[in-house]
Amino acid sequence: MERTPSGVEGLDEILGGGFVRGSCVVVSGGPGSGKSTLCSQFIYRGYKEHGDGGVYVTCTESPEEVKNNFRDHGWDIDEATRIGKIALLDMRPVIATESGIITRNEALFKGEKIPFSIVAKATLDATRRMKARRVVIDSLTTIEMQYKDDFEVRQGLLGLVQGLSAEDCVSLMIVESLGSRNSIPIEWALSHGAIQLNYVSENSEVVRSIQVVKMRRTAHDQTIYGMEIAKEGIVVHTDVRV
Ligand SMILES: Nc1ncnc2c1ncn2[C@@H]1O[C@H](COP(=O)(O)OP(=O)(O)OP(=O)(O)O)[C@@H](O)[C@H]1O
Ligand SMILES: [Mg+2]
Repeated sequence: MERTPSGVEGLDEILGGGFVRGSCVVVSGGPGSGKSTLCSQFIYRGYKEHGDGGVYVTCTESPEEVKNNFRDHGWDIDEATRIGKIALLDMRPVIATESGIITRNEALFKGEKIPFSIVAKATLDATRRMKARRVVIDSLTTIEMQYKDDFEVRQGLLGLVQGLSAEDCVSLMIVESLGSRNSIPIEWALSHGAIQLNYVSENSEVVRSIQVVKMRRTAHDQTIYGMEIAKEGIVVHTDVRV
């Protein structure tokens, strides 16, 4: 089985040797838990250390904001996009025009027969064009919010996961969720794997954590480990159990 290194120190160890090639993995967590940082790091280190092409689909932040997230950690996203190794796709469902009018980005939905199909096609087209080994969708939750009922979301998710799994890449899909035990996020059930990021406050200090909740086709560690977001990126402390 081929593996794709995560680019996050300590994470490959608990994944049982990196992500399984062809898998679609949900990265969930609350606001500010480090989801975008982990996914940017996965894309950037893949390019820098392995020459992997990457596609980063942004549905919430503008491409410039996404670039700033990379730049803040000293990751040269400008070079990577210039030489065509990383592509940022702007798939924000709502557009604020310069004249101040806010409209729905019809190009992403109009005439769609199956939910998510236009977003999925644009993502898959870019993945093939770039021969990308790494894909990030930031975030799936924003796409899902464009649909009114759960049936549409399930149908869209199934199609997206099926399409991405057929490509020779690892896809990380961001989901806004605290991962409560009482309600299992639907995305966890439909994807190959799920990683939960969290933080708690202890004596006025923030303790960040990471857990690999599920990963099909591989043995992995389910322990909740300490995690840190530093200037250089995310480090998982496999010697600290939270
Ligand atoms: N250069 C840095 N050094 C240390 N910590 C940082 C740095 N940059 C960001 N952080 C921390 O990371 C957090 C944000 O991480 P990130 O944007 O990855 O979270 P997120 O889960 O994607 O959030 P959101 O739900 O808002 O999209 C910040 O709130 C901050 O605490
Ligand atoms: Mg984010």
